[in-house]
Amino acid sequence: MDTQSLIAALSDDIALHLFPTERALLPNLDDVYELQLAFYENLILSDAELLRNGAYFAKVGETYTRHFLMCTGEPLKLPEHSSSRLKSFFEKNIFRTGYATHGLFPYRGKFHPQMIKGILNTMGLKPGDIVLDPMMGSGTVPVEAALMGINFVGVDASPFCRFMTQTKFDALTMSLARVKGALNNHEEIFKYFQKQVGKPAPGSKARPRYPARGYMAVMEPAAEYVTSGDRKPLSKADHETANTYAFLLLAYLDSAGYAERSGRKSPLEQFRAVLERYVFVAEKIQSVLGSVESDLGSGQILEGDARDLPLDAESIDGIVFSPPYSFAIDYLANDSFHLDFLGVDSVKLRGKMIGLRGRKLAEKFTLYQEDMSKVLSECARVLRKRRFCTIVVGTNNNQLSKVLGVPPDEVPGLHQLLVESAVPHGLRLVKMLSRPITGISNTMRREYIVILVRK
Ligand SMILES: C[S@@+](CC[C@H](N)C(=O)[O-])C[C@H]1O[C@@H](n2cnc3c(N)ncnc32)[C@H](O)[C@@H]1O
Repeated sequence: MDTQSLIAALSDDIALHLFPTERALLPNLDDVYELQLAFYENLILSDAELLRNGAYFAKVGETYTRHFLMCTGEPLKLPEHSSSRLKSFFEKNIFRTGYATHGLFPYRGKFHPQMIKGILNTMGLKPGDIVLDPMMGSGTVPVEAALMGINFVGVDASPFCRFMTQTKFDALTMSLARVKGALNNHEEIFKYFQKQVGKPAPGSKARPRYPARGYMAVMEPAAEYVTSGDRKPLSKADHETANTYAFLLLAYLDSAGYAERSGRKSPLEQFRAVLERYVFVAEKIQSVLGSVESDLGSGQILEGDARDLPLDAESIDGIVFSPPYSFAIDYLANDSFHLDFLGVDSVKLRGKMIGLRGRKLAEKFTLYQEDMSKVLSECARVLRKRRFCTIVVGTNNNQLSKVLGVPPDEVPGLHQLLVESAVPHGLRLVKMLSRPITGISNTMRREYIVILVRK
């Protein structure tokens, strides 16, 4: 090719071949799987749908997308002493994570919410449909679905996950007056929570009583309701009280974990910094939602077992979930402080947790496969025919190579095992995308987005 032709080739842009000029991509889109999801969104969504629910576009014509508006504006307030690595992570991922109430608790193994938005669009889900995440963890799917006007059912075996997800969902709409007021009483609130740590012993639900004075008058009645998981209908005022308590408690549990890990600030200072950030995040998304037609999806957030879902057959329009990556993360050990605080019997819970059942690695792996087959069977049962079930999963090759006695590069990926295991339940593979895992502390380098269709 001569120089003139080379210059002409270099002046071209791949996006111009894939997308109409009036649909402008977001700037930080740099992985191939993101381009693929953007490509599907462009094929599937009308202009109005792209503006309302697109994940990878900044503008249609002169109008900004809702995703762009939710992610930009005043940047997320990180604690002053945050490392430059953390700051650059949030800058790089401005459109991927941390927006709305997704950033409220750093749960391990959490989805990138932007990817979930792209996947929900790719599965053809529309406002008013119902999506299920049978292992919702920190609630990325319920919160993202709600933002898109899609209804949801979120299930997790862990009561802490139920509490966390409910709190993140409620924070999208709750009155923030009292949590803002709490910033002036943060020491009293911190001490209140601190006194509750370790009491009662795990397994018991009884809580010590304190005289209901001042701010404590908000805390005491709400504590019982929020931690019991009993979501009986409440009056508007009581609901607000419960929301305030839950919001403060999530900030406290988050800061306690943070203080343990970093130790740079006192736990009290840490609590104040986390609470300030929570209030900032909630105010920001509420102000965006206030400026657009706010039509949030609604649904159920349940503590339950993905192997035995409390749902009717063919009642769900789409499923998205990420199972534990065999036994790569011990979610109970990670969350022990939080579970103890909620009075959860961790021994009993361990028996339900997929990936944690069994003693030796080989037994754990066998039980994992059996459990996942039951989950897939349940997914097939509750999903409507011709609808999609998407699984995001990666493999810890080093761990599995020990169990299977084969070299790490010959280990079958969990994505392959799950695809095979899904077939007898009537779930067939339609598409597989792969995405790199970039976190420094993660030993896994790649995970898969597996899209199955129900026969
Ligand atoms: C990889 S995490 C999911 C993270 C989630 N996608 C998010 O965005 O936060 C897997 C989840 O499966 C849950 N889990 C394990 N066994 C379960 C079971 N039998 N039923 C329901 N959930 C279970 C764990 O508590 C954990 O939260």
